[in-house]
Amino acid sequence: MLVSAKEMLQKAKAGHYAVGQFNINNLEWTKAILLTSEELKSPVILGVSEGAGKYMTGYKTVTAMVKNMIDELNITVPVALHLDHGSYEACYKCIEAGFSSIMFDGSHYPIEENVAKTKELVQVCAEKGLSLEAEVGSIGGEEDGVVGAGECADPQECKMIADLGVDMLAAGIGNIHGKYPENWAGLSFETLDGVQQLTGDMPLVLHGGTGIPEDMIKKAIDLGVSKINVNTECQLTFAAATRKYIEEGKDLQGKGYDPRKLLAPGVEAIKATVKEKMELFGSIGKA
Ligand code: 13P
Repeated sequence: MLVSAKEMLQKAKAGHYAVGQFNINNLEWTKAILLTSEELKSPVILGVSEGAGKYMTGYKTVTAMVKNMIDELNITVPVALHLDHGSYEACYKCIEAGFSSIMFDGSHYPIEENVAKTKELVQVCAEKGLSLEAEVGSIGGEEDGVVGAGECADPQECKMIADLGVDMLAAGIGNIHGKYPENWAGLSFETLDGVQQLTGDMPLVLHGGTGIPEDMIKKAIDLGVSKINVNTECQLTFAAATRKYIEEGKDLQGKGYDPRKLLAPGVEAIKATVKEKMELFGSIGKA
């Protein structure tokens, strides 16, 4: 079922676990994530960055693929199709294309402009029954051309945005997209605690889920994180499994070059990564 992320995240917040957002790039990614979610009876959020949306030929193609895959594969767990780090324009395109959830990333605007644009989108999403994620304090690193300095959010600004009626809030707490550098200072739990205290029941979102040590993930969930985004880790495990297949010369044996065979180890690797994350986040059996 394609649903808004509102209810699954409210349940996660109340139940002290987190729902994973796994970013999709193509049919293989989508199928692997949906099948794993169904097998483990876990709710799931499929993230689509603007770059990945463009790669898949547009948001309408993505919506049609996800909706039909849910139907053809008999997926019964709640699935949200979510725009990741959307610009103001991309939000409207995804609303029109039939996404069930939107992230408006206004973190690079002055706070007044972030508030004004988020407020407008709260209204539009509420009318259409979509969930909305907002961001305060940019996430570090780079994801599909979205570059951030990696700030720690101001809890007062988080409260201003949360009070507008968004369904989930991403607050920068020293997290970074992609691999973490050797000298990374770790997550700022002081910031997270400050945000949580001022935003109460609001489900908080942790971006940059790749490479965060398990104890930090668990502590973040304890402090109110209910959605964790994972992208790079599926790419790394997919690439490693594909590399192994080719280095072992399996593409040269029989019809090993058939894309359905060539991509199969990578697909299995994505499934294993998604399962590992769902176990860590505590979302298994929560659908
Ligand atoms: P990673 O690529 O670091 O896992 O981050 C994913 C993310 O935050 C998507 O918005």
